[in-house]
Amino acid sequence: TVSPAHGAPPEPPVPVAHRGASGYAPENTLAAVDAARELGVQWVENDVQRTRDGELVVMHDATLGRTTDVEEVFPDRAPWRVADFTAAEIARLDAGSWFDPRYAGERVPTLEQFLRRLNLTRQNLLLEIKRPELYPGIEADILRELRSEGWLDRRHVRSKLVIQSFGADSVRAVHEQAPAVRTGFLGTPKPAELPEYARFTDQINPPHTTLSEEYVRQVHALKGVHGEPLEVFTWTVNDAETARRVAGMGVDGIISNVPDVVRDAVASP
Ligand code: G3P
Ligand code: CA
Repeated sequence: TVSPAHGAPPEPPVPVAHRGASGYAPENTLAAVDAARELGVQWVENDVQRTRDGELVVMHDATLGRTTDVEEVFPDRAPWRVADFTAAEIARLDAGSWFDPRYAGERVPTLEQFLRRLNLTRQNLLLEIKRPELYPGIEADILRELRSEGWLDRRHVRSKLVIQSFGADSVRAVHEQAPAVRTGFLGTPKPAELPEYARFTDQINPPHTTLSEEYVRQVHALKGVHGEPLEVFTWTVNDAETARRVAGMGVDGIISNVPDVVRDAVASP
């Protein structure tokens, strides 16, 4: 983070609960939202995809097998693609037992349920559009849902939201359809390409393995689409030593399955 002009120490980077606090509760579930809130971690990251009948659901993989009991419930539906199931079918799945039997019965949330579970006075959302190439037009669907849930029209609520994707075209589409919404690109564009990304993003969010202090400096030197210095939120950092290393490079946010570990590691003395 950039040092304030008056010489105070820079703010430590913001911890972000990756797929919710997914080190402590099953990823991308309402329990993972609650776990982040209980840790006092403000930012929650999730992954959004679309069902066969057009419902938005929160799920990381393009297939349902790893994080649900879909192979038992629907044995004949291999390869169990999210896009091949209806919302009602997905709602029958157990998305918690694979993680810990304590979470048996946890469901794959719809985006609507996920948004409603976030406590808007204490929680912010880093929403990832996952595999946008599989879901043409999903950006408009997501924006429609966010608008109907009240996330877009009031500035103080909008400020709690960033929409990111590995798909540059998807991020650009979000910017074009909702110019006031903050956006992030997941990846590490070449320094020469950064000005092009800055035309539609507020954040450049690379894996920590690709980061250097020089790269963070180059990103920060540019203004994002809303006129603030481009930010860097890096992922996925699950140990204190790496958290301190990337904090030392000046990143603005650190996305982690164990965001409390990150927060404690980078706290100012
Ligand atoms: O938020 C960044 C990170 O989530 C990107 O990777 O695969 O965990 O969605 P992935
Ligand atoms: Ca993600």
